[in-house]
Amino acid sequence: DKEDRHTELRAPRSRPHSRSRNSSVNGRLSASDFDFGRVLGEGSYSTVIQARNLNTGNEYAIKVLDKGHLKRKDKTETALAEKNTLVRLGSGHPGIVRLHSTFQDEWSLFFVLDLARNGELQSRISRMGSLSLTCSRYYSAQLVDALDYMHQKGVIHRDLKPENLLLDDKFRIKITDFGTGKILGPGADRAKTFVGTAQYVAPELLENSETSKSSDLWATGCILFQMIAGKFAFQGLSEYLTWEKIKRLDYSFPEGFDEEAKDLVQKLLVRDPTQRLGAGELGSSNDMKALRSHPFFSTVNWATLWTDPAPPLQ
Ligand code: ADE
Repeated sequence: DKEDRHTELRAPRSRPHSRSRNSSVNGRLSASDFDFGRVLGEGSYSTVIQARNLNTGNEYAIKVLDKGHLKRKDKTETALAEKNTLVRLGSGHPGIVRLHSTFQDEWSLFFVLDLARNGELQSRISRMGSLSLTCSRYYSAQLVDALDYMHQKGVIHRDLKPENLLLDDKFRIKITDFGTGKILGPGADRAKTFVGTAQYVAPELLENSETSKSSDLWATGCILFQMIAGKFAFQGLSEYLTWEKIKRLDYSFPEGFDEEAKDLVQKLLVRDPTQRLGAGELGSSNDMKALRSHPFFSTVNWATLWTDPAPPLQ
């Protein structure tokens, strides 16, 4: 008798399945609503896994964050910032990974994200050495368009790099990994704290630990350089030496680098963040006009950028 009561009391906890059915009825998803497939990516605090919703058949990328690990490394705030940033960005732009829902169990946080079936832009650049001018133009235009939206929503990414630019089934980009994202409060236009990957870090971050929307423009310049040249704009033998090069603006274009692309890179890789092309108008209603109007983008149709077919990757 005693045994039975004990079992009964414990039952809900030892039967996560029935619990999840119940919560499903309440509109809340749980891990048992998904069939988990292959691992898409692994970060320091998370694993991204391809998963299919058993009720709808829809496929997603689910980011699973380990609660224990987050707590031990004092990164719970970072995970919350990522969620809040994604919520803020909503479903308003095709070039940004959308957060469909979140749930948690005893051990993990789950972020249900758009699945980008064609992986990271980084692996395409690596595989092919560099991208054609047509592809580089297309992907940098999509990046600029998505950035404009993001900045208008008051969000800075702070770790833009080809690893964080995913390609969907139509080979269009989706910006991901907002773990370093920052929502600027009303009136604030700069944020302190150090983040970012050495090769794409803007000089103002190294010099006075300040980032602004313009730091994402610097990264855009680095990414455009890398797509065309097939190598980093700034690369030293160590992180420290890379930073030294960034501070000195010590980089050079390889032979044959397209002249218009070169001009654009030179207008983005500017030490003073306020002087980068498009910086004065970032997030303002004039739509980053100066940047969009640069001759490098003259053949881009901004209105059909997300519906036109992507150029063949080459
Ligand atoms: N790797 C990391 N995030 C991903 C996503 N949303 N889709 C596909 N692969 C990913």
